[in-house]
Amino acid sequence: KDSYFVTTLPGDGIGPEIMSATVKVCQAVAAKQGFKIEFKEALIGGAALDACNDPFPDETLKQMKSSDSVLLAAIGGPKWDANPRDKRPETGLLKMRKSLGLFANLRPATVLPQLADASTLKPEVVSGVDIMVVRELTGDVYFGEPKGITTKDGERFGYNNMCYKESEVKRIAKVAFDIARKRGKRVCSVDKANVLDVSQLWRDVVIETHKDYPDVELSHMYVDNAAMQLIRNPKQFDVMVTGNIFGDILSDEASMLVGSLGMLPSASVGDPSGPGVFEPIHGSAPDIAGTDKANPLATILSAAMMFRYDLDRPEAAQAIEDAVNKVLDDGVRTGDLGGKVGCKQMGEEVCKRI
Ligand code: NAD
Ligand code: IPM
Ligand code: MN
Repeated sequence: KDSYFVTTLPGDGIGPEIMSATVKVCQAVAAKQGFKIEFKEALIGGAALDACNDPFPDETLKQMKSSDSVLLAAIGGPKWDANPRDKRPETGLLKMRKSLGLFANLRPATVLPQLADASTLKPEVVSGVDIMVVRELTGDVYFGEPKGITTKDGERFGYNNMCYKESEVKRIAKVAFDIARKRGKRVCSVDKANVLDVSQLWRDVVIETHKDYPDVELSHMYVDNAAMQLIRNPKQFDVMVTGNIFGDILSDEASMLVGSLGMLPSASVGDPSGPGVFEPIHGSAPDIAGTDKANPLATILSAAMMFRYDLDRPEAAQAIEDAVNKVLDDGVRTGDLGGKVGCKQMGEEVCKRI
C-alpha cells in the first residue's frame, strides 16, 4: 500500500498548533519515502461542541472508521468546564475510545540522552530510563456505573464505580506480556489490591494470564509505592501494566523523568479491524494555547507510533524519531525544555532533518 487516509482531530487549546506541525512532518516523510497520505480533519471535544453541540459527533466516528489511522492532538479547556457532563470535551474523548474499542494505551517514557539534564531529577537517576506504561483505557472508574451526584442524608453525594470484568483485565495483561517479550521481558503490574476488591481481581487475573508467558518475569506493586519507586529508581521498570486511572496518573509522573509532558507520545489501540488513535499524553494546555509555545514533539512522536503500529511503515517511524533526535542533538528546544524555539519552528526544524 502506498497511499493512506488519515483523520486528524486537532481539538482544542494547543491542539491545532501541534497538529499542524505534525502533519507537515508526516508529509515530509511521505514525500521523502515516496508514499502518499491524505489528511482530513474532523471535530472532537470543545471544537465539536461549539460547531454542533456534541463532543463526539457521529460524523467524526464514521470518518474515523473509514480511515487507515487517526491522529489526535488534545481536547478540553475552561470554556467548557461548567458544562453538564454530556456536553464536556472529555466525554467526547471517552466516547471515542469506547466506540472504537481502544482498550490499550501504550505510553512509552524513554529518556533520550540529549535530555538527561532536562529532568528535575538527577541525570544519573533518569539516564537510560526506558519504560512502557500499558494503560487500560476503556474500563475502570472512568466508565463504571452507577455514577452521579445526588443527595444523601441531607447533603450532596458524589459517586463513581471502579470496576473491571475478568475479560478486560485478561486482554490488557496479554498486551503487556506480548510487548514485554519484545523488550526487557519484565512486567510490573500496578494495583491497590491491599484495599480494593477490583484490584484483587486485577491481580488474580494477571497472575492467571501470566501462566502462558513463563519467559516473562511478573512482579506486582501497590500504586502508592509505584509512584514513589518511579522517582526513586525508575530504571527498575521495563513494562508497567495498570488500570485506567492509575495509568493516567503514573504516565504523567513518568513524563518528568523524560523532562517534559510535551515529549510523551501514545498509541491507543485494541480492535485490529479498526484504526488506532495516536495522541500525546498531555492535554490542551490552555495556559499556553495560541502563544506558539507548545512543544509539538509528543504529537510528532505519536505520528511515528502511527507509522509503526497502524500503517506498517517502520522506516517512516524511524525517520521521524531520527529527525527528533537530531533536533535535540542540535540543542533546539521549546520553552518547556528551557529553550526559545516556538511550536511552528520546532515542526520546521524536524522537517528539515527528515
Ligand atoms: P495539560 O496536560 O493540558 O497541561 C499541564 C501542564 O503541562 C500545563 O502547564 C501545560 O502548559 C503543560 N503542557 C502540556 N502539554 C504541553 C506541551 N505540548 N508543550 C508545553 N507544555 C505543555 O493538563 P491540564 O492543564 O490539567 O488540562 C488542561 C485541559 O486538557 C483540561 O481540559 C483537561 O481535561 C484536558 N486534557 C486533555 C487530554 C487529552 O486530550 N488527551 C489529556 C489531558 C488533559
Ligand atoms: C488523558 C487525559 C484524559 C484521561 C481525560 C482528558 C479524559 O487525561 O488522555 O490522559 O483521563 O484519559
Ligand atoms: Mn491524562
